[in-house]
Amino acid sequence: MQFHNVKEKVLIIDFGSQVTKLIARRVRELGIFSEIITPKEIKRVKDFNSIRGIILSGGPSTVTKEKFERVPIEIFSKKIPILGICYGLQLIAKLYGGKIKSSKRKREFGRAFIFKKRRSELTKNFFKNKSSVWMSHEDAVVKLPKNFQVIAYTKDSRLTIIENKKKKIYGVQFHPEITHTDNGKQIFKNFLFSICKIKKRWNAASQKTKLINDIKNIVQKDKVLCALSGGVDSSVVALLINKAIKKNLICIMVDTGLMRKNEFKYNYKIFKKKYKLNVKLINASEIFLKKLKNVTNPEKKRKIIGNLFIKIFEKESKKFQNIKYLAQGTLYPDVIESKSSTGSKSSKIKSHHNVGGLPKKMNLKLIEPLKEFFKDEVRILGNALGLSKKICYRHPFPGPGLAIRIIGNITIEKIKILQEADFIYMNELLKNNLYDKIWQAYAALLPVKTVGVMGDSRTYEYTCLLRAVTSEDGMSADYFNFPKSFLDRISNKIVNNVKGINRVVYDISSKPPSTIELE
Ligand code: XMP
Repeated sequence: MQFHNVKEKVLIIDFGSQVTKLIARRVRELGIFSEIITPKEIKRVKDFNSIRGIILSGGPSTVTKEKFERVPIEIFSKKIPILGICYGLQLIAKLYGGKIKSSKRKREFGRAFIFKKRRSELTKNFFKNKSSVWMSHEDAVVKLPKNFQVIAYTKDSRLTIIENKKKKIYGVQFHPEITHTDNGKQIFKNFLFSICKIKKRWNAASQKTKLINDIKNIVQKDKVLCALSGGVDSSVVALLINKAIKKNLICIMVDTGLMRKNEFKYNYKIFKKKYKLNVKLINASEIFLKKLKNVTNPEKKRKIIGNLFIKIFEKESKKFQNIKYLAQGTLYPDVIESKSSTGSKSSKIKSHHNVGGLPKKMNLKLIEPLKEFFKDEVRILGNALGLSKKICYRHPFPGPGLAIRIIGNITIEKIKILQEADFIYMNELLKNNLYDKIWQAYAALLPVKTVGVMGDSRTYEYTCLLRAVTSEDGMSADYFNFPKSFLDRISNKIVNNVKGINRVVYDISSKPPSTIELE
């Protein structure tokens, strides 16, 4: 277990809630470093000096059974303020002698109105005229533990917020970390600033120098290899390492031929000329196209691309001598997921391609400078490193690229058609100031030909699907609500300018049940 060396932090103990990550984000958004750990890990913490607050997350466990997820009771005697959310509240109540009941009849899922009963430091400026909160529970506290008081209630749960003011222990049944809770941020503000009395000291940009020095100290005079895709994560990794060790960083850019129009060329030029990185360019588009010929199965496409990428990368890396490290853009959510306490292995939906499979075979040590950061924090860091806005705020782009946006078999003609349509779409989003309001947008080519009429002639061409979603982290997403005038214009522009497309459709599905990509 590695704890991060910061002066003040908040620990979030993860009982397996789907939204624990959001708690960490909310805390960090307020300028305070937070770290998610498992209930097992808290048992091994010896030094509590830098820990100014503890948050217990929600989770699927139930304290109504004999066996349930718990934390060592000693953490309550360290004089560190504690906030329990959902399961966290029930656990606090259980440990302090309250009573919790499972009730299908009184369960609350979704929005509930909350009413104030008593004043509390935790709810300063929280209640509005008609405040609603986001609930997701079947168990509820039905008897208050000793020395606790009720602060607020809902129609179906009498003990929605409770506190032990003297011991600074608080519990909320709802989820303040979810944006559907009105004014949820205020609960965190009150807990962190008024109750824990922590100062705003942390922000992603301020970590730049520390990260660069850490890399210097670890790598020293050795060489580092980095697969540079031009996405924000690998770009920030490359810039950080370059600032630390300059020429000893070797970046490999593999052109799969499956990028957006002009994007690969632009990336290569900017990394080589503007940022003066030591970049080796590999043009592999022909071999990718050859291996993908007549492949229509999405998983097969993903596997072929992932394996081929690794093979090329391995071959190229052998041309360099004495490389000791491989740099990767692993982010904090990946780290959290890989150590989730109770999270069952969810069934595999898609085989994501990134360079994560490389080190096992290549015997290189990993350096992952971004593994404490969320995506939006990586963007802030990129900004502080002088990374161009175009790369910093670019929408996420999947490793397999356009191959999974051309449904069915892939040909060079289809790639060109799609690149043109996508180019028009992206430019229109930028021109209309919509790009930054959307989490991810792209055009896809459907293998459906339909009849159209242009001038006096009949056409029989492909269908272009447009997708645009809003999301916080790609785990769930909603389609973006474009003004009709934009949809009219974009449809018209694509059909008029891209030979091969005579119909444009807009995808109005959310995730779940759909996914963001089509394959
Ligand atoms: P889905 O389609 O699973 O996508 O809803 C969620 C997010 O992940 C991106 N994505 C990928 N990113 N390699 C990546 O680096 C991949 O193989 C891959 N597949 C999907 C997708 O674009 C979206 O942002």
